[in-house]
Amino acid sequence: MEKGCIHLAVVLLLLQQMSTCSSIVNITTDQTALLALQSQISLYNPHSVLARDWSTSTPVCSWIGVTCSLRHQRITALNLSSMNLKGMVPPQLGNLSFLISLDIRNNNFHGSLPEELAHLRRLKMINAMNNNFTGAIPSFFSLLPNLHSLYLSFNQLSGNIPPSIFNITKLKNLRLRGNFLTGEIPQEISSLCCLNSIDLQDNKLTGSIPPTMFNQSSLRQIGLTNNILYGKLPGNVCDNLPNLEHLRLSRNRFDGLIPPNLQNCSKLQILSLSVNDFAGTIPAEIGNLTMLTSLQLGLTYLKGEIPRELGYLQRLEVFGLYQNRLSGSIPASLFNISTLQILTIVDCQLSGTGCKLRGIIPEEIGNLTNVLSISLFANDLTGFIPKTVRGLQKLQRILIQSNMISGTIPDEICYLQNLGDLIVGRNKISGPLPSCLGNVTTLRNLYLASNKLNSSLPETLWNLQELLELDAASNSFSDVLSPQIGNLKNVIDIDLSYNDFSGMIPTTMGSLQKLITLSLSDNRIDGPHSRVFWENVKLGILGFEL
Ligand SMILES: *[C@@H]1O[C@H](CO)[C@@H](O)[C@H](O)[C@H]1NC(C)=O
Ligand SMILES: *[C@@H]1O[C@H](CO)[C@@H](O)[C@H](O)[C@H]1NC(C)=O
Ligand SMILES: *[C@@H]1O[C@H](CO)[C@@H](O)[C@H](O)[C@H]1NC(C)=O
Ligand SMILES: *[C@@H]1O[C@H](CO)[C@@H](O)[C@H](O)[C@H]1NC(C)=O
Ligand SMILES: *[C@@H]1O[C@H](CO)[C@@H](O)[C@H](O)[C@H]1NC(C)=O
Ligand SMILES: *[C@@H]1O[C@H](CO)[C@@H](O)[C@H](O)[C@H]1NC(C)=O
Ligand SMILES: *[C@@H]1O[C@H](CO)[C@@H](O)[C@H](O)[C@H]1NC(C)=O
Ligand SMILES: *[C@@H]1O[C@H](CO)[C@@H](O)[C@H](O)[C@H]1NC(C)=O
Ligand SMILES: *[C@@H]1O[C@H](CO)[C@@H](O)[C@H](O)[C@H]1NC(C)=O
Ligand SMILES: *[C@@H]1O[C@H](CO)[C@@H](O)[C@H](O)[C@H]1NC(C)=O
Ligand SMILES: *[C@@H]1O[C@H](CO)[C@@H](O)[C@H](O)[C@H]1NC(C)=O
Ligand SMILES: *[C@@H]1O[C@H](CO)[C@@H](O)[C@H](O)[C@H]1NC(C)=O
Repeated sequence: MEKGCIHLAVVLLLLQQMSTCSSIVNITTDQTALLALQSQISLYNPHSVLARDWSTSTPVCSWIGVTCSLRHQRITALNLSSMNLKGMVPPQLGNLSFLISLDIRNNNFHGSLPEELAHLRRLKMINAMNNNFTGAIPSFFSLLPNLHSLYLSFNQLSGNIPPSIFNITKLKNLRLRGNFLTGEIPQEISSLCCLNSIDLQDNKLTGSIPPTMFNQSSLRQIGLTNNILYGKLPGNVCDNLPNLEHLRLSRNRFDGLIPPNLQNCSKLQILSLSVNDFAGTIPAEIGNLTMLTSLQLGLTYLKGEIPRELGYLQRLEVFGLYQNRLSGSIPASLFNISTLQILTIVDCQLSGTGCKLRGIIPEEIGNLTNVLSISLFANDLTGFIPKTVRGLQKLQRILIQSNMISGTIPDEICYLQNLGDLIVGRNKISGPLPSCLGNVTTLRNLYLASNKLNSSLPETLWNLQELLELDAASNSFSDVLSPQIGNLKNVIDIDLSYNDFSGMIPTTMGSLQKLITLSLSDNRIDGPHSRVFWENVKLGILGFEL
């Protein structure tokens, strides 16, 4: 007891708030503080977890969310995360003078954190993420000499980042993501000795990155995505960041070149530079960052070719390259990265500068045994869909429309038991559809339009109970429409226009209750004479073209 009192006296002296240690501070003080919190919360919800569990008839150290030190019999940790609590944090919490860790994340606390928390000299961690705190970031945090982690992400905080926050010299983790912070990142960040992660994503920060940040060699994670930051990355950006693992700069206004020197951040796992004004070429040196799991370079002004060396990134899971000004061919080496889950190389689709990428889909694609999504649309790919696609057992979507791919759709597609989207329209694909296509029971969107497909639609197609969209327009399919088309219970959109279908519209089509658009124009089809059919065609809802 005596020790606690002396300690408190020192604290109070420092703060010059009180001059004497008049009252004995003990677990009863802690209990009083928690009861103040409880009554705050009861204003909004009299039946909260705390209202039920925090009872003076049981010892405070046994209350839910409370951890005490055995030696001092004082509260050292308060963990009220995800308890659906609403209310303000009362000033009495500043009396929990032995508190080391305060975790109130994922609740609906509002107002501001009380200044009295500045008394908590032992506090090492505050996690108030995902609440509804408003106002400015309190500057009293700088009075907490032991604070190493401050998490205030996903609140409604506004104003500048107080420079004083950076004289908490032990600060290791600072997360302020998803607030309304404005102004610049303070230069004072250089006073931190041991900063590990800084997450300022999704704010409205402006200015450039303080150059000193690139000298903070302890940094592992930098998150600045979605702000209004600008400027160039220094040519020696990674000379003093040997530990950097995440560099997230997407959705800002950075410009200049992507420095080859990034290869010196040899532990880099996530590099996202998308949606900025970067120009120049993709440095081949990026291929040396062999720890990379995610590389995002979309919507910048990059030109030149995709370096073959990126194939060395044998841990890459996400590769996103879209709407740049690249030219040349897609290196086959990229299809050799067996860890890839998402492969997106979509160029110039909107910018329309005519710099599409060439190349083929190489046999190596079969090595992408973990891939979930392949998007290579709106390029100038030639060649055909290789039979090795059979190896893509996890594939959920393949988008290769608007290229110049020829050949047939190989039967091997039928082995893909997770495929939902097969989007191959606007190519030069010919021949019949695989008769086994109905084996791909997960298919939801089948876009085949504007190819040179022919023969009849395979009977197994009508087994596809999940199918939402069937677009086979502008091909050379012939045959009569099978009555089994009525089996496509979930289909929303059928477009078979500009083919050579003949005969009658099967009356079974009238049972397609979810159908919104049906286009059968430019075939040799007659309308059905069944009253049931026309009754089910909900005029005005069903956009019907014959
Ligand atoms: C705490 O101190 C008060 C005096 O300020 C005393 O009345 C109370 O019994 C003490 N409680 C414990 C648990 O020691
Ligand atoms: C608080 O409790 C949650 C849920 O049990 C846990 O995930 C979290 O790590 C705890 N916080 C601290 C600081 O220990
Ligand atoms: C606790 O904090 C409140 C408000 O900050 C204060 O009025 C009170 O005197 C403090 N001390 C004790 C022992 O509760
Ligand atoms: C958060 O606070 C704002 C204003 O203080 C209020 O309008 C909003 O409804 C609150 N959000 C939630 C989820 O309670
Ligand atoms: C913290 O920083 C502010 C301004 O940045 C300075 O005035 C103050 O003296 C510093 N406080 C401590 C405790 O270092
Ligand atoms: C970064 O550190 C280097 C070497 O330690 C030093 O020369 C340089 O001036 C520092 N840069 C900044 C912006 O602090
Ligand atoms: C950083 O990379 C450059 C090449 O881009 C190299 O010449 C230099 O030695 C590297 N510096 C360090 C500190 O590794
Ligand atoms: C890094 O990449 C460049 C260009 O691809 C290459 O010449 C160099 O040998 C690589 N350096 C290291 C250290 O791997
Ligand atoms: C793919 O990897 C294999 C085995 O490592 C190698 O022989 C082949 O050359 C690679 N293909 C490409 C296009 O890089
Ligand atoms: C990748 O695929 C090609 C062609 O299918 C094959 O020759 C090669 O050995 C594969 N490489 C790896 C690393 O699996
Ligand atoms: C379908 O197209 C293929 C390839 O163009 C051709 O060989 C075949 O004769 C055509 N079949 C029919 C029924 O037109
Ligand atoms: C398609 O399914 C049928 C019946 O289940 C089976 O006999 C056939 O081997 C399958 N074909 C392919 C290519 O998966």
